[in-house]
Amino acid sequence: MDQTALPQFRIGQGWDTHRIEPGRPLILGGITIPSEFGLAGHSDADVLFHAVTDALLGSLGLGDIGMHFPDTAPEWKGANSEQFLRHAMELVSKQGYALANVDSTIILERPKLKDFRSAIRENLARVLALPSECVGVKFKTAEKVGPVGEGRSCEAQAVVLVSRTRQGV
Ligand code: C5P
Ligand code: MG
Repeated sequence: MDQTALPQFRIGQGWDTHRIEPGRPLILGGITIPSEFGLAGHSDADVLFHAVTDALLGSLGLGDIGMHFPDTAPEWKGANSEQFLRHAMELVSKQGYALANVDSTIILERPKLKDFRSAIRENLARVLALPSECVGVKFKTAEKVGPVGEGRSCEAQAVVLVSRTRQGV
């Protein structure tokens, strides 16, 4: 593709879901939330980091998290999902783009997350090397409806905007 034709801005969208499982830690945006249950998964099951990782990959058409980090690979068992996010950021940078902002929503019936908003937001901003003003973290219940509402799962959604800094590789 003619590099000069690359758009100045690209958007990306990500979504993830994990089953709730007793006895696992509840890790959201790298922050461990006090809870009697956590999320099942091959890695640390950080549903927010996974959604943001997919949004970053999607912004540049680079596939999805499972392509880069297969959940059958022993090296990712119990993995800290921060490394998935960092890898996606590196790919974005290599393609000549920089992240402008991210917005996200975690959908979880309980526990209440609002007391952890600052911690999650600041941690996400740290990993993404963004000012926290450019990081949105929102929480919703599912109004007791569906798998999330019945307390069987947790979902996260994310959108990102990336801006071209130079010609890509
Ligand atoms: O889903 P609902 O609109 O009832 O959520 C009301 C508020 O509760 C949200 O604005 C959110 O800040 C908070 N919330 C929370 N933790 C959750 C779900 C929602 O703190 N697990
Ligand atoms: Mg996931």
